[in-house]
Amino acid sequence: MNGSALLLDRDTQDDRTDFRDAVLAGLSARPRAIPAKFLYDARGSALFDAICDLPEYYPTRTETGILRACAGEVATLSGPGCALVEFGSGSSVKSRLLLEAMDRLVAYVPIDISRQHLDQTAARLRRDYPGLNVEPVCADYMALERLPDEVSAARRRIGFFPGSTIGNLTPGEATAFLKRVRRLLGTRGALVLGVDLRKDPRRLHDAYNDAAGVTAEFTLNLLRRMNRELDANFDLSGFAHEAFYNPVEGRIEIYVRSLRTQAVTVAGRTFTLAEGERIHTEYSYKYDEAGIRALAASADFRIGRFWSDAERLFAVVYLEAPDDRP
Ligand code: AVI
Repeated sequence: MNGSALLLDRDTQDDRTDFRDAVLAGLSARPRAIPAKFLYDARGSALFDAICDLPEYYPTRTETGILRACAGEVATLSGPGCALVEFGSGSSVKSRLLLEAMDRLVAYVPIDISRQHLDQTAARLRRDYPGLNVEPVCADYMALERLPDEVSAARRRIGFFPGSTIGNLTPGEATAFLKRVRRLLGTRGALVLGVDLRKDPRRLHDAYNDAAGVTAEFTLNLLRRMNRELDANFDLSGFAHEAFYNPVEGRIEIYVRSLRTQAVTVAGRTFTLAEGERIHTEYSYKYDEAGIRALAASADFRIGRFWSDAERLFAVVYLEAPDDRP
């Protein structure tokens, strides 16, 4: 059955209200900060796709190469008759590598906040894999409470969270997310997780400061989005993208920096930004193997397998939940 068990219909108005509330709270706070999830409107998502193809942005191609090499082993470790649950599926490009390797999947459950993305992805997958049971869930995976009933027929639930999106969460948020995943995947569940590794800071710096300026455009698109959706009046020539590696915290930090003292109006409220003042938009945490192990343990997972590339730029890990049958 290709049912749509959990299409929780949020509408554009809900999205706009969430965006306005988060922006007004974030611009009023000190330090000023707007949650990274709001970077991904239609234009932001297209810009992020362009980032993934940049010569400086190694994570996407590196992870794809690792997945291509390890998909068969993932299939062996997980065994036949599983449900594959992808958290933040987007266009499900990488998941195809697992879908094609895994034996007799009971269901593929793509979870995404964007209904449009989800509908298109589900339609494409049903076309390309006619025997596959696709059970899309339209939801914020950070707050998801249950999976569609169809997955209960599976022998095991295998989660998939690629792209090092885990790095955009603070360590506390990452633990809370993994605990939620652990609960959703249940007994004998496992998670295939993509994680960007710590490396030469220059390599990291370049990945977030590309020569073509696509990452800068991605960051500044947040201001365009506020102008369009929240009746704001940001003059984009007065702001710059700023990204740097913080070696103490082991993370890339990304901000919008105000190039002069200026007042902006957003949803009827005025904010004055001093010259040099920043609005935080993203963290991108980088882990080493010990850090991944500690993060996994904080949510009662253990590393079953660790795969990397020859340069050790990126890791794909198979996290197992202990077999908690009596
Ligand atoms: C989606 N996420 C894993 C990207 C990253 O590398 O942290 C987002 C990104 N922001 C700027 N470039 C890429």
